[in-house]
Amino acid sequence: MDRPDVGELTPPDRTLMGPGPSEVHPRVLRAMSTPLVGHLDPSFVEIMDEVQELLRYAFRTDNKWTIPVSGTGSASMETAIGNLVEPGDTMLVPTNGYFGGRMESMAERAGGEVVHVDAPWGEPLDPVDVERAFEEHQPDVFGFVHAETSTGVLQPDVPELTSIAHDHDAYVIADTVTSLGGVELRVDEWDVDAAYAGPQKCLSCPPGASPLTLNDRAMEKVLSRDDPARSWYLDLSLLEGYWGDERAYHHTAPITNVYALREALRLVAEEGIEERWQRHREMAGALKAGVEAMGGSMNAPDDYWLPSLNAVRVPDGVTDTDVTDYLLEQYDLEIATGLGDLDGDIFRIGCMGYSARPQTVSYLVSALGDALDDQGADVDVEAGLAATSRRLGE
Ligand SMILES: Cc1ncc(COP(=O)(O)O)c(C=O)c1O
Repeated sequence: MDRPDVGELTPPDRTLMGPGPSEVHPRVLRAMSTPLVGHLDPSFVEIMDEVQELLRYAFRTDNKWTIPVSGTGSASMETAIGNLVEPGDTMLVPTNGYFGGRMESMAERAGGEVVHVDAPWGEPLDPVDVERAFEEHQPDVFGFVHAETSTGVLQPDVPELTSIAHDHDAYVIADTVTSLGGVELRVDEWDVDAAYAGPQKCLSCPPGASPLTLNDRAMEKVLSRDDPARSWYLDLSLLEGYWGDERAYHHTAPITNVYALREALRLVAEEGIEERWQRHREMAGALKAGVEAMGGSMNAPDDYWLPSLNAVRVPDGVTDTDVTDYLLEQYDLEIATGLGDLDGDIFRIGCMGYSARPQTVSYLVSALGDALDDQGADVDVEAGLAATSRRLGE
């Protein structure tokens, strides 16, 4: 085989306003060039403690069992589902978005039986339907998606959902991949048994080490399983050896990703979690105001609008991919098209972490206005920009 002639790495300089990854904060990038220490070095053990403490702050929890899982959000997702769902258990999953479907696949691979609670794509679950599904199926585990990245819907009424599940002695797993660090989330107060997330959304950190938290009740179920979890790599009873009191080798932690996550979470703590939720609401509010003022419309009603992921309806006569291609080519700006039931109907515009700031929001509104105008949509770009700058100036 010939020696490959591959040039220096020069990816384009994109502005990331899609469903993730978001822009990485420069301090996080700097943390990633910090020299490695061993994953069992006493100094790294201290860093692990700090990351766990910072994660608890971001999740609003005192759970001892709060760790970064090696891998992307799907790894923390599979750790939660693959450990809490035992063969023969029934898991109730939602059908109102792409990630409920992924929950289903993971629960089945864990040996569980899956039952559904339905809502259309673009709408949240109704607690009445959840109650009905519990009465009908008596599931052992209930999963829901707090911030559905495929639809831009924020699930309201979380305490109501967890209380229904607990009245039926079930465990609740929350997908908080697109909410952690950007949208109000209170794991302890809302009585969520297990929540998983990803670092590349509202934490503005590259993918690779993904937050997970479980309360004692959930961990007791995990540690008293009859059979071990099917994945050796994601078996929490083994990961306990590394992230628990013992700090013994299980696998080599992705050290650089843990450094990055630590810095990203330090930024959360410096800003203050509630202030950060507020910033996301304000920045995404300015984006939404601009879209609406130029003549566009949001897919989700205000009651369950998700600031971190704005689903904007594709105007009549416009082809979604022409717009996303135009933005990438003319503006180096990434947004995404719809998925599944909403394929072709919406644009998905992220407003997460370091991307949720005035410069990127104004850039997005002006570029989107231009792209829609170029595709022949009836938009008033000036009105959109004026509405956004008014909101940003407030
Ligand atoms: C709601 C939700 N859950 C799970 C995932 C899976 O995360 P990852 O792609 O990092 O594996 C994503 C990723 O976009 C997501 O948005």
